[in-house]
Parts: sequence; C-alpha cells; structure tokens
Amino acid sequence: MEFKDKVAIITGAANGIGEAVAKMLAKEGAKLTLVDIDEDGLNRLSGELGIAEENYIISPTDVSKEEQVSSYVNKTIDKFGRIDIFVNNAGVEGKVQSIIDTSSDNLDFVLDINIKGVYYGLKYVLPTMIEQKYGSIINTSSVAGFIGAPGLAPYIASKHAVLGITKTAALEVASYGIRVNAVCPGPVDNRMMRSIEEGAAPGHPEDVKQAFEKDIPIGRYATNEEVADLICFLASDKAQYLTGVSYRIDGGMGAK
Ligand SMILES: NC(=O)c1ccc[n+]([C@@H]2O[C@H](COP(=O)([O-])OP(=O)(O)OC[C@H]3O[C@@H](n4cnc5c(N)ncnc54)[C@H](O)[C@@H]3O)[C@@H](O)[C@H]2O)c1
Repeated sequence: MEFKDKVAIITGAANGIGEAVAKMLAKEGAKLTLVDIDEDGLNRLSGELGIAEENYIISPTDVSKEEQVSSYVNKTIDKFGRIDIFVNNAGVEGKVQSIIDTSSDNLDFVLDINIKGVYYGLKYVLPTMIEQKYGSIINTSSVAGFIGAPGLAPYIASKHAVLGITKTAALEVASYGIRVNAVCPGPVDNRMMRSIEEGAAPGHPEDVKQAFEKDIPIGRYATNEEVADLICFLASDKAQYLTGVSYRIDGGMGAK
C-alpha cells in the first residue's frame, strides 16, 4: 500500500480525472478529503471507494469561494491532523466562444474556478505542509497551458496561469520539503471533452473528436486513469527530487 495513512485532499473529485485519482489513492491506503461542487457525485463516489467511513470526508465546495476553501482544509486538519498530498484539480472549460463573443460572466466563471480555486487551495493548504515540512501538491493545468486554441481563450488563459502559480509556489516552499508540480493533459476521454466537442461544432461532436485524434501521435484521447497514474507518481515519495515542473501527458502532441 504505497499511500498507507497518507492524507490527501482532491478537488474536482466527483468526476473524471479527480475521481480516478480518488479511487487509486483509496486502493493504496490513503485517507481522503473529497472536494467538489457536485454533491451527488461525491455521494456516489464515496459508495464506490471501498474504504471505511472514518477514512474519508466529503466536502461539497465551490473552490472559487475563499471561505469554502478554508473550510475544506480546516475539516481535513480537524479529522486527520495533517495533509500529505493535495491534488488541486477542479476546473471548468466554459463556453466555446471567440474573444469578441465572450461574456464577462463566462470569463469570470472560468478564471474564478480555474485560477482563484487553485490559488486559494495553495494559500490554505501550504501553512500545514510548511509546519509538517512535508507535502506534495499537483495542480492540474493542461496542454492548454502551453498553446492557444480558438474559442477557448478564458480556459487557455487560466491554464497558462496555473503554470505560473505552480512555478512560483514551488520556489516559495522548496526549502520546506514541499514539492509543487503541474500535470498538463491533452484531450482526455471524459465529460469535459464531450462539452468542448459539442461547443466547437454543435450537433457534430464526433467530427471534432476525429480531428483532435488525428492531431495526437498516439491516435486517441487519454483515459482518466492514465492521467491519474501520473498524478499519483508525482504525489509519491518516488518523485522526491521533482518540483516546479509541468508534465505533459499528451500522447506525443508536444513532440510536434
Ligand atoms: N478533460 C480533458 O480533456 C482535460 C484536459 C486537460 C486538463 N483537464 C483538466 O483536468 C481537471 C479535471 O477535469 P476533468 O477532465 O476530470 O473534467 P470533469 O468535468 O469530469 O471534472 C471536473 C470536476 O470539477 C468539478 N468542479 C467544477 N467546478 C467546480 C467548483 N467551482 N468547485 C468545485 N468543484 C468544481 C466538477 O463538478 C467535476 O467533478 C480540470 O482542471 C481540467 O481543466 C482536462
């Protein structure tokens, strides 16, 4: 059990990549705080973890609200007394719209969750890790952190921001034995890509998927579990000398 008795907080835990991470960490013995705005999803997941109730907390949370972020961190400390792993992963894609057509509501929605949610998470988790002189943090960025994509400017901006925040946090806390890295997936075969495909070509999502897949040297999207494997590696003590780095997991897209 690689993560026996390690305490992990996972945001965006109810679905997709976060759900896959939660299941892997649970299987490997970790104690979990599962954070998501989707309360039904958290309840469903908790029934599928296969671990005793005393070993997890579910925390329905909007990560863009600072007081709610401080609350999931406090609940974790009250229950488990420490935080070893923080998977700072919740995110949204927003609407597919050109910069000209983007409403300020859509811009705020994406930036508030994807940037402020990640930032507040660090702000409230780091003091505990500094006290412990131990911790591994994985922020979920994207290949959208490196490139542009027409119609997705708020998302692209937010994922670039996550890389800057990751590097800065890594530098601020390296001397305390805390590592901060980012994972940067290409398209993953889950709800978020279904939404982007439908937004890019309403009524013809399959065409968009095929076009994306043509651009990926391995020829297919990643699975949630493949991304979760990378996150769990970075969370583990096998990655002790890795910090401040942004890891692409993109089926070879970055080689082009
Ligand atoms: N799916 C992809 O192709 C892809 C590619 C690269 C990066 N990512 C990133 O991976 C991360 C996880 O996304 P996913 O692919 O699992 O998609 P997903 O939509 O399945 O999961 C995102 C989770 O975040 C939760 N969430 C949304 N808004 C929230 C909020 N305000 N507060 C708390 N939780 C909230 C959702 O309820 C959901 O459970 C995101 O940061 C996403 O940007 C996804």
